[in-house]
Amino acid sequence: MKVGDRWFRAVWWEQNGVGYIDQRLLPHRFELSVASSTAEVAHAIKDMAIRGAPTIGVMAAYGLAMASLNGENFEATYGILNSTRPTAVNLKYGLDAVAPHYSDPDAALEAARAHDEAEVAAAEKIGEYGSALINSGATVSTHCNAGWLAAQDWGTALSPVYKAVEAGKKVAVIVDETRPRLQGSRLTAWELAQYGIEHRVAADGATASLLRRGEIDIVITGADRIAANGDAANKIGTYPLALAAQAAGVPFYVAAPTSTIDPNVALGDDIPIEERDDDEVLYVEGLTDAGELSRVRVAPQESRAVNPAFDVTPAALISGLITEVGIVAASVDGVRSALRK
Ligand code: MRU
Repeated sequence: MKVGDRWFRAVWWEQNGVGYIDQRLLPHRFELSVASSTAEVAHAIKDMAIRGAPTIGVMAAYGLAMASLNGENFEATYGILNSTRPTAVNLKYGLDAVAPHYSDPDAALEAARAHDEAEVAAAEKIGEYGSALINSGATVSTHCNAGWLAAQDWGTALSPVYKAVEAGKKVAVIVDETRPRLQGSRLTAWELAQYGIEHRVAADGATASLLRRGEIDIVITGADRIAANGDAANKIGTYPLALAAQAAGVPFYVAAPTSTIDPNVALGDDIPIEERDDDEVLYVEGLTDAGELSRVRVAPQESRAVNPAFDVTPAALISGLITEVGIVAASVDGVRSALRK
């Protein structure tokens, strides 16, 4: 995706490590960084300098290839990288793409690169299939950031939007701000603004009313792990959005590459849900009027928080899964057919 006059992916291989756009600083600062050790790769994933399921998988794949080049112990490195974020199964998928080649550094790097290219190709295909669901004049609602920052290029939920706009359709997007880390207002709104796509940021609690008032035509979100029965884990707040969409009779689609499907997990309730630090809820971060990045506490000093980072949307609420092999039902048969293709 283009930023200014340069093309970027969310993460990339560099001579001395893994380059990435530091997403913690967006939208206020666009800064590039390099992780040049396994510890730095692990920290970038854990601290969410890079985030989004497919991008996490690609970063981990390059991290493992780097460890192979540095002659590190395979089990230890695999374990460190695999434990950085528990919900997005793409992490393991990326590591497993490189693991068989670990003893040959050139082959390991080639495998990481191939995994990167495959995720980008999948994201583009998702856009081609998904854009058929978006009519000209439609308003699309989305949650969190499932754009190119989250999927190396194109995105998952946003890829159909980008493809629909490329095809000349008029599309507007309602972006849930996505508390607590605000990936919607910080990242999705930034991406859409870069691309010149009409959008408005909504407080998370506002979207149900917009659905009920008929102001949204379709909801598309990403996913971090899809169970064998079609249940989908995604950013916290996705489940209430799906409930509200069903109540309003608005289609709710989940867009994800097949690397997000975990056939080893039978039901959504079996998906591990990451619990993150209380401070993400108790504080907000942003730019002061004086132009400085700052963090302020909102809740009383005495208060603790509860901070599950993801929730599970039951398959029954999902109109379909938009994958790189086509749109399939959110069901055991649908998931099986996507993995078979
Ligand atoms: O905690 P994050 O920001 O990594 O969560 C990201 C999401 O929940 C995305 O919707 C998901 O990874 C799909 S991204 C293409």
